[in-house]
Amino acid sequence: MATSWPRSSAPRVLAEAGSSTGWYPVARSAEVRTTPVPVGAAGRAYVVVRLRPGAEVTALSARCPHRLVPLATATVVDGRLECPHHGWQFNAEGRCVEIPSLGPDGTPPPRADLSAPWAVEERDGWVWLAPERTPVARPPRLGGRTPAPEPVPAPPAPDGPVFGNLDPALEHAWHPVASAGELVEGGYVQVRLLGRTWTVHRRDGVLDADPPAWGVVERLGLVWIAPAEPREEPLEVPAAGDGRATAVWLAPARSTAPAGLLADAFLDVSRTGRPLRQEVPAYEVTPEPGGFSSVLEQDGRRVTLRYRAPFQLLRVEELAGGAVRTVLRLLQPEDPDSTRVHTCLLLQGAGGAAGVPADVVAAEVASQEALLAEELARQATADGAGLPLQLRDELHVRADRLGVALRRALADLAADAAVADRAADLERRASA
Ligand code: FES
Repeated sequence: MATSWPRSSAPRVLAEAGSSTGWYPVARSAEVRTTPVPVGAAGRAYVVVRLRPGAEVTALSARCPHRLVPLATATVVDGRLECPHHGWQFNAEGRCVEIPSLGPDGTPPPRADLSAPWAVEERDGWVWLAPERTPVARPPRLGGRTPAPEPVPAPPAPDGPVFGNLDPALEHAWHPVASAGELVEGGYVQVRLLGRTWTVHRRDGVLDADPPAWGVVERLGLVWIAPAEPREEPLEVPAAGDGRATAVWLAPARSTAPAGLLADAFLDVSRTGRPLRQEVPAYEVTPEPGGFSSVLEQDGRRVTLRYRAPFQLLRVEELAGGAVRTVLRLLQPEDPDSTRVHTCLLLQGAGGAAGVPADVVAAEVASQEALLAEELARQATADGAGLPLQLRDELHVRADRLGVALRRALADLAADAAVADRAADLERRASA
């Protein structure tokens, strides 16, 4: 019997009305190779891929459950789909079969698995998906017609709140906006912060901002703005006060990723400057006023990470021979899709000796620039609107303790700021 199409020339789906059962044409067979192709079926997002050249097509849900990044950027490695962010690997059924940070004996939790459609089939040069069990055993014959695949749907938003660059809590924090050296006496700079343009003046040695801010200060070689009374603690940087340290500011970088996602990446001990496929030993996170810190061993080096809300991060590495490398990262949330990254590298010779040789400094700067460029390129593939604050929206493993602490710190900041805003509002009404 001839198939009856919903539309005469552009069949999209053979499905039961009002349900997602049925067969959906999603891509031409010839276009599906060992690079994942994002597709949509019944409003759900999948990737289709061949896990070996010429193998049958595999279809899996389109987001990595770890950090919700699109698997369209994944690669095929040894017959598995590998997420580029932390190397989690998935087999043809969607089972997560390896999480490198857990080590060779680690067992991925069941929640790490990807979902798969009920069936995938190739027919008449097209890949068809049946997202759910369907009474029609096979996709229909095309009979020379060209189907119209449905558009790839937008990713589902996390269930809980997401901390983006315009979160109201950020009004209650200090933000770096410019190098202090840029702002000469009698001059001004225009900067973006929290979706607004600010003009910062230096007049008679005094800084002020237009529109008016609660505070404008100079600290750590940068100009900072607090739009409203800040709730957070400043980050102390001991090396910055040590006249023997060599300090170099990298050129500020800009990313389309929200600052919360970048802070998460900079705190990520499973990949910062190290091979993706290494185990991450257990470590502790110590709460501190306004943030937290952690001390861990990495590749035989002692590394201290310190964080202050919302986006102040310090990494101190003790190198061979007693030299110390400190990397300070300060993030400026400019707009929803724009974050400026200020990075200062501080180098101290063995035993705190002054005068790190110029060639060593140049090599360190080049290495930090390359690491930053690599991280920003990776973040460009993560399309989140902000950092999910509800822990069960993502999947956290042992290596993610710092990421969990970051989410809690930003959730606390948001709650504190909301209380402060409510109190200020009540006070305003009472005095009106
Ligand atoms: S492995 Fe996919 S985001 Fe971490």
